[in-house]
Amino acid sequence: MKPLALLTYLLLALLLYILVLARVLRRFFKMPCPHQAAYLIENPVRKVFFGPEKILKRAGVLPGMKVLELGPGGGFLTVEAAKMVGEEGEVHCIDIQPEMIKILMKKVKKMGLCEKVNAIVGDAANLPYLSGSFDLVFMVAVLGEIFDQKGAINEIRRVLREGGILSITEILLDPDYALARTVRRLCTESGFEHLDTKGNVFCYTANFIKKGF
Ligand SMILES: C[S@@+](CC[C@H](N)C(=O)[O-])C[C@H]1O[C@@H](n2cnc3c(N)ncnc32)[C@H](O)[C@@H]1O
Repeated sequence: MKPLALLTYLLLALLLYILVLARVLRRFFKMPCPHQAAYLIENPVRKVFFGPEKILKRAGVLPGMKVLELGPGGGFLTVEAAKMVGEEGEVHCIDIQPEMIKILMKKVKKMGLCEKVNAIVGDAANLPYLSGSFDLVFMVAVLGEIFDQKGAINEIRRVLREGGILSITEILLDPDYALARTVRRLCTESGFEHLDTKGNVFCYTANFIKKGF
């Protein structure tokens, strides 16, 4: 075997080992992704393969929408979301870690989007927003980190308007990756109707609609 091929295999095996180890550890030590990793999450490889525009299009973000992003981290998707909702739209963000909100706001300020993005510290399971106030709620690589997932899904249902969309994206490289069928069960049990699932096992987006009981 050529040295370069051997090195590639070794690196892939190492990556797989790290991922499996991280996944096992996360089962015992559940905690939010460390804020020190915010810049690591925003790597160029991710931008190319699972870029913000692609994910937000799959979620159905449109001009004029009032959108809530749960667990924005350092804002990998937030800037693009703010551009996509346009002049008439609004983007609200809530993250459990104050440090993440600081990083996010720095980025938003740099892009001149302060007017468009409203970011606060808080828990997805206890949302400080009025009922029926959003057109769309999305989260990317967040669900697995939330302690009270049922509570969070119920809260999302409350803050969405009738016919509003919940969009959940999961990425296989994330140690907290949730299977599409698990996400679907969780959301439909909480009263959402499954609309569609786009993408593949490496990165999928599952969309759900809020309909009355
Ligand atoms: C892996 S990062 C993903 C960040 C961003 N969505 C992205 O794709 O780059 C997960 C984020 O979810 C946040 N988070 C975890 N549990 C949360 C909760 N219960 N409520 C709100 N945010 C939470 C973490 O603080 C972290 O910023």
